[in-house]
Amino acid sequence: MKNFGLLKEKVTLVTGAGSGFGREMAIAFASYGSNLVLNDINLESIEKTRDLILKSYEVDVLTVNADITDEKQVFEMNKKVFNKFDNVFVLVNNAGVRGGTSSLKTKTKDYDRVMEVNVKGAWNVTRNFFKKMKKQKFTPVAGKIINITSCAGTECGLNPFIGIYSVSKAALIAFTKLWALELGPSNITVNAICPGIFLTPMYNNDENFIREWIKLRNIKLPLDKIGESKQVADVALFLASPAADYITGQNIILDGGMTISINKL
Ligand SMILES: NC(=O)c1ccc[n+]([C@@H]2O[C@H](COP(=O)([O-])OP(=O)(O)OC[C@H]3O[C@@H](n4cnc5c(N)ncnc54)[C@H](O)[C@@H]3O)[C@@H](O)[C@H]2O)c1
Repeated sequence: MKNFGLLKEKVTLVTGAGSGFGREMAIAFASYGSNLVLNDINLESIEKTRDLILKSYEVDVLTVNADITDEKQVFEMNKKVFNKFDNVFVLVNNAGVRGGTSSLKTKTKDYDRVMEVNVKGAWNVTRNFFKKMKKQKFTPVAGKIINITSCAGTECGLNPFIGIYSVSKAALIAFTKLWALELGPSNITVNAICPGIFLTPMYNNDENFIREWIKLRNIKLPLDKIGESKQVADVALFLASPAADYITGQNIILDGGMTISINKL
């Protein structure tokens, strides 16, 4: 077991923990001794993540099947979490959905779904958990919030082919900075990991599909590699570690140089 202990007796809550980045982050946090709350709208998927964790690590795992867009379900999740654990040191707002075409052609139901999960969902979870996180006795940082945004939400990454998704992630980047301002005085750090293009089920886990997509969109990757979930998990672990205690309000871009290359390669 590697580096067991860094997050011992601390709890990490990951939304969307049944797939892609969420599963990878949950396993990485368990490998550092963290107990886990695994949330997803899909129960089977978090049961699989839990089984993968318990096969290798001696940590406590709670699965909570809840839709983060539903206020009542998130409230119930909060109750379940604090019935079992006495803290949530790290909250990872990871659950997200892609969708939409150009923003003005998007149907209302697609607009609503993307904004509901990617923006309202993260807001619902954060506003349900921050009060207890503020009161935690950990020092010098009482708790940490990590939002998973996207380069599609950055100024040079705004993408008309996934317009509403871009808007939703721009909003989550704004929330990251707002919550850092609002929660800084309570010793809670809030940062975002901003991935470029990664091999996950969101892109069918298919490198060829991604290569076609980025060619069609004229996107260049200076490092010429598609990202891997483990790289996102490593940055999440860094943000959870004491090395990042003085970092807050940042949107950390992880994109092989994609966003700096626009109009240059
Ligand atoms: N894959 C990429 O290249 C990429 C790039 C940039 C940002 N992101 C972001 O990273 C995050 C994770 O993406 P991924 O690629 O691992 O996706 P994924 O589709 O593999 O996983 C997302 C998970 O979220 C869950 N989920 C969806 N709606 C939910 C809801 N209402 N309540 C609870 N859970 C819900 C899904 O069931 C799924 O398990 C997302 O926010 C996504 O926007 C992904």
